Amino acid sequence: METMTDKVALVTGASAGIGEAIARAMGQAGLRVALAARRVDRLEKIAGEISTDSERTLVCPCDVTSREEAKKTVGAVLDNWGKIDILVNNAGVMPLSFVKNLHLDEWDRMVDVNVKGVLNCTGAVIPTMLEQQSGHIINISSLAGRRIFPAGSVYCATKFFVCAFSEGLRAELSPRDNIRVTIIEPAFTRSELTLSITDETVKERFAEFSQIKILEAEDIANAVIYAISQPSHVNVNEILIRPTEQET
Ligand SMILES: NC(=O)c1ccc[n+]([C@@H]2O[C@H](COP(=O)([O-])OP(=O)(O)OC[C@H]3O[C@@H](n4cnc5c(N)ncnc54)[C@H](OP(=O)(O)O)[C@@H]3O)[C@@H](O)[C@H]2O)c1
Repeated sequence: METMTDKVALVTGASAGIGEAIARAMGQAGLRVALAARRVDRLEKIAGEISTDSERTLVCPCDVTSREEAKKTVGAVLDNWGKIDILVNNAGVMPLSFVKNLHLDEWDRMVDVNVKGVLNCTGAVIPTMLEQQSGHIINISSLAGRRIFPAGSVYCATKFFVCAFSEGLRAELSPRDNIRVTIIEPAFTRSELTLSITDETVKERFAEFSQIKILEAEDIANAVIYAISQPSHVNVNEILIRPTEQET
């Protein structure tokens, strides 16, 4: 039976927040981890902290909105380690705004990263996972993939997409091709995600959350480690995580 330490994972958006925590937790669990994002200096620092053995980590400069860069990243993982067991589609942006304010460029960016980025990276790993007849795709959706709130209509729509796409992947690929699919749905988690919000009214709304103890990125990484630690006949499909003090 394959152990966790034999596994190879690719984590997108590994330069900060939840993706960084997932990459670190995987490294600690003994996996070989490829870290993908645009800020290579950050990836190199994190990779060096995960392991001083350069055979255990791989830094992949990658803008997930580019199909070519996603393919190149998967190619680099395969050239390095010859297989890919786990893809974590984590890269995401959340410039929330009210629809009436028409932040059209921010709508586009959310669709490009949160939707097309997931498609680009998933499309890039599928041929290998089909050939291997094994794999695990973990998609980081959100509580926003279940509940819609004002100023979140485009962001929520991208996360509803992630949930729908994941369930389609599962129905197609899990029973026949042994490719497992997990949706992780965090509620408010400490990270840099809210820094991209330019709508002042929305920023104030997030200040409300400073009243409660929010989730840490490591809490979400723990859920990912749980999902990937299960035996191959167990397909953990969905994990929703809220801070204990959160009402809504
Ligand atoms: N924090 C929360 O409350 C929360 C709750 C639910 C779900 N989530 C989801 O969790 C995921 C991670 O978010 P986070 O909270 O950890 O945010 P974060 O701290 O802002 O990290 C976002 C990551 O995504 C990467 N990224 C952004 N655009 C990219 C692109 N075009 N290509 C490649 N990588 C890109 C960033 O790296 P570079 O800038 O270096 O490229 C960074 O590593 C997102 O999908 C988010 O929607 C977060």
